[in-house]
Amino acid sequence: MQHFLSLFDISPDDLKLILRTAGVVKQKLAAGDRPNILKNKVIALLFEKPSLRTRVSFEAGMAQLGGESLFLGSDVGWGKRESPSDFTNVLGQFVDAVVCRAKQHAQVELLASFDAMPVINGLTDLCHPCQALADVLTIEEAFGSYAGKHLVFVGDGNNVSQSLALICAMLQMRFTLACPEGYEMDADWLAKINASYPNAQIETLHDPAAAVKTADAIYTDVWTSMGQEAEVVARRQAFKPFQLDKTLLDAAPSTARVLHCLPAVRGEEITDEVIDGDQSDIVRQAGNRMHAQKGLLVWLLGRDWISKHVR
Ligand code: CP
Ligand code: NVA
Repeated sequence: MQHFLSLFDISPDDLKLILRTAGVVKQKLAAGDRPNILKNKVIALLFEKPSLRTRVSFEAGMAQLGGESLFLGSDVGWGKRESPSDFTNVLGQFVDAVVCRAKQHAQVELLASFDAMPVINGLTDLCHPCQALADVLTIEEAFGSYAGKHLVFVGDGNNVSQSLALICAMLQMRFTLACPEGYEMDADWLAKINASYPNAQIETLHDPAAAVKTADAIYTDVWTSMGQEAEVVARRQAFKPFQLDKTLLDAAPSTARVLHCLPAVRGEEITDEVIDGDQSDIVRQAGNRMHAQKGLLVWLLGRDWISKHVR
């Protein structure tokens, strides 16, 4: 059973095929063509945390591909009403895949462990692989190619930066995290990336201006992720020198693009001037969530179509 709990579940060739599929489906949509590739397919969305982009991009994407999606509210009682195996094996009788946003990564692993249907990670505390797909698609559109590009993440060694470090390793892009001391990426995660991709170009710095010097894209995310609310005061203090403002942007090449997964706390990790400025691709990046995930859904549930339509 093919799951998508993290980018470790797929090969670099799979990843490139998903990205090419996303590009083809996006071009078709722009030309007014909405092929019913996933007609009669149904996905469920099982979310333990709030979401705008992930939820709506999966629902809209599925609808545009001719399939259906079901958003499951808390009344389904995941983890509460019945055993994990009963819940998951029954859900698998009804749907072709489930997108799950969970507080703990172990919860999506448990859901996948029954192999009742493909499980797609819609964000956990460990990683956010669907976001990384959209981010690379956005970089590719901005520069014509993602090959050899340098992505600099200014902020927390969190779920978003961890997925970006891995996707850069898989695509032979360069990745730099500029973070305060004590907020680095998870050491086990990094070790696994380096073991799987020995040529990975990943570095961690604590000086944001030095980090962005050769950046093709500068990325930031909230200082306090969902679930970390108790740390908000300490984090605000620690991350203050890491705000993506005009001064930091001006330390990067003038060709650098600005990315943010959203939602943003304007005035904290990024200023209005930068988020709304000429170098920002942030709104298109959010739109690419849908296009990238269509590539993933077609790859998981409509592989025949790819063999006929994607080179
Ligand atoms: N970027 C992202 O995952 O947004 P949502 O939390 O709104 O889904
Ligand atoms: N790091 C953020 C990303 C939100 C899309 C969080 O986990 O809250």
